[in-house]
Amino acid sequence: MGESHERGVSLSTSTRSSITRRLPPAEATELRTGARHALAQVYRTGDLVVLGLGVMIGAGIFSIAGQQAKTTAGPGVILSFMIAGIACLLACLCYAELSSTMPRSGSAYTFAYVIFGEVWAWIIGWALILELQLAAAVVARAWSQITVGAISNFGVRVPYPDVVATVLVVVILVLLTGVVAVGARIGLRALWVMVSAKLLAIGAVIVVGAMHIDVANFGDLYAEPQPATGAKATVLDFFVGQGQAFGWTGVFAAAPVIAFAYIGFDIVATAAEETVNPRAVVPKGMIRSLVVATVIYIAVAVVMVGMIPYTSISLDAPLSSAFQDVGVDWMGHVIDIGAVLGLTTVILVLIVGQTRVVFSMARDGLLPRRLGAISRAYHTPQRATLVIGAVAILLAVFVPVLTMQELVVMGTLFAFLFVAAGVIAMRRTMPGLERGFRVPLSPLLPIASLVATLWLMVNLQLLTWAWFALWMGFGLVVYLVYGRRHSLLTLDERPPPEAGGRGRHRR
Ligand code: ALA
Repeated sequence: MGESHERGVSLSTSTRSSITRRLPPAEATELRTGARHALAQVYRTGDLVVLGLGVMIGAGIFSIAGQQAKTTAGPGVILSFMIAGIACLLACLCYAELSSTMPRSGSAYTFAYVIFGEVWAWIIGWALILELQLAAAVVARAWSQITVGAISNFGVRVPYPDVVATVLVVVILVLLTGVVAVGARIGLRALWVMVSAKLLAIGAVIVVGAMHIDVANFGDLYAEPQPATGAKATVLDFFVGQGQAFGWTGVFAAAPVIAFAYIGFDIVATAAEETVNPRAVVPKGMIRSLVVATVIYIAVAVVMVGMIPYTSISLDAPLSSAFQDVGVDWMGHVIDIGAVLGLTTVILVLIVGQTRVVFSMARDGLLPRRLGAISRAYHTPQRATLVIGAVAILLAVFVPVLTMQELVVMGTLFAFLFVAAGVIAMRRTMPGLERGFRVPLSPLLPIASLVATLWLMVNLQLLTWAWFALWMGFGLVVYLVYGRRHSLLTLDERPPPEAGGRGRHRR
């Protein structure tokens, strides 16, 4: 479709009907043919598991268990990991059903477009953009700091560490954006190697750590409650009064922060369009990677709080200093290598996921169509990739993104809500659609997913909600000014230039 065709579109429908219009299910469920499905199919089950582990296991595993044990949950952080894991598993089952029915790059954005309508799709797409773009910047910033720390731990003096860290952020983002731009296959090979290496490092953490556990450090997994001094107020605190740290409240309060560590299984869904036999393979890839990650996280949390009393944990480098305390200094280097590799794969897959969401929204006309263009040489959405890489660099260099981790969690949980509601709605409205996977005990488990996700959300800070509301409000303005007018569904609704029936302007 030519650019000229898109300009000056006059709406032929009222705003109300345009924002509630839905993508026809066939657009999301049909077999891939024609230019609409130009992405190369490269992934099989093992690749999706690696993709999931590549993006899930990153900054979270090396720091969150220790930090949350020390500040919020005590040894009960092990239970917090289980609670967050169960909430994510429920969401994962819902994602698995919808992506096995609509195996499209847009993931939750496309599901919402078919099930709830355009404005909801936009809202979810906008939340996913926040999740993925911000997470890429957050993890890149964390990567650069860890890399500088790792270099100095190997005895090399780093002059001007802050400047070096900033240069490294740019270098890693340019490099990984380049890898994503030239094709999934190259990225995939690198991913297998790096994920295997980080799993080896984490295996060493678990095995060596297990040999230094003192069971007295677990207590009964319960730490006496204390007033949560210094903690920022959550939505729940706002309604029920300032919360406590530790005790059972602390165990639950740590769960939403821990949810950051699980972020990633949802991104596997964005690979559906590039997966061979996606209806069967995507659910397997998502569920298996989440189960493996959950087991690994719980094992690392057990080791973390088992090695030293939670009150002695260092907030800066919890795992490395715990190993130092038990006399295994060399594990610090293993952790450094694991963290540098681990965070590299997280950034890589986050950029891949973000390009697929932006590509899908652009393909539907809600974002500029040029971002949906597929490179003939590499079969990737190259323009979208370059824009995303550039924005990640700007965010990581100029914004204090490390303080914005909760906002990433908020964007993710918001999408979880719609996916769970989507399973319930689609079972009622489109019972006949072919599903490669069905959530067991529906609607019970999707409702449990809704409740668990809402619980995690009300345990996020008020400030996070305020920033999120601002971002979504801005998004709605962009939709009304741009997306609604340029949507291909708007173009479809225009009367054809000549008689001859309703023209489909779709690709
Ligand atoms: N789950 C990813 C991490 O922990 C985002 O780094």
